[in-house]
Amino acid sequence: MQAILEIRALKVSADGKPILNGVDLKVRAGEVHVIMGPNGSGKSTLAFAILGHPGYDVTHGHLFFEGKKINHLKTHERANRGIFLGFQSPLTVDGVSLLSLMKAAKEKQIAPKHNFNIFDLRKDLSGNLEALGLDDEFIMRSVHQGSSGGEKKKIELTQMKTLKPKLAILDEIDAGLDIGALKTAGKFISKIRKDTAIILITHYQRVLKYVVPDKVHIMIDGRIVKSGSKNLAKDVEKRGYEQFKNV
Ligand SMILES: Nc1ncnc2c1ncn2[C@@H]1O[C@H](COP(=O)(O)OP(=O)(O)O)[C@@H](O)[C@H]1O
Ligand SMILES: [Mg+2]
Repeated sequence: MQAILEIRALKVSADGKPILNGVDLKVRAGEVHVIMGPNGSGKSTLAFAILGHPGYDVTHGHLFFEGKKINHLKTHERANRGIFLGFQSPLTVDGVSLLSLMKAAKEKQIAPKHNFNIFDLRKDLSGNLEALGLDDEFIMRSVHQGSSGGEKKKIELTQMKTLKPKLAILDEIDAGLDIGALKTAGKFISKIRKDTAIILITHYQRVLKYVVPDKVHIMIDGRIVKSGSKNLAKDVEKRGYEQFKNV
């Protein structure tokens, strides 16, 4: 089956500093890939590079989405094609409600083109918020305005579910969630996996109890140094990253 995302020999710099030093990754439809690695190893940079963040320069290599090269596409064009990023540190969107943000995003989606009206969208948002234990008031509140860390992560997940992307990259979506919220979020994520390929960046294997990965990759110093099954995540949690250094 054709890969939904294929990354070949990707090198990325920010501010002239090389961060990713040759990353290869292939994600097929329906797969969940986990990326683990020490702080500063380049996990978020990889997420930003896939989305085409203007602050990150691809100095070498190629990105393909559904078999088409996307290196030249702007962030919004990649998003419109069906790539979603749930941020590690979501920023407040002043004066823009979740409803209007989602309406704008859905209107620009290229495929699948979901015919929707604002009432259905509201209902969809309401159902997704409820599944995560959040109140309807978040629909009209400015996105992330005054929200706690855990609420922000859940709002990111609500956006993901509402947009139905082809590929969702979730950057430390489990950070700052208590055990109950983690379980709710994990189950919520696992529900979308048949329609959406997922790249999950995490430090902990506890979320993997609910979202069982097809592959786990270890990133050190801007390179994927090892790939394996879900057991690799358990091994990392037990023995740390030292074992992968200098490999
Ligand atoms: N915009 C930037 N400008 C300069 N350095 C950056 C920038 N973004 C990230 N870095 C650096 O790149 C390295 C990797 O960062 P990051 O991708 O956030 O790592 P991780 O998500 O694995 O913790 C860090 O040393 C970080 O300071
Ligand atoms: Mg990060």
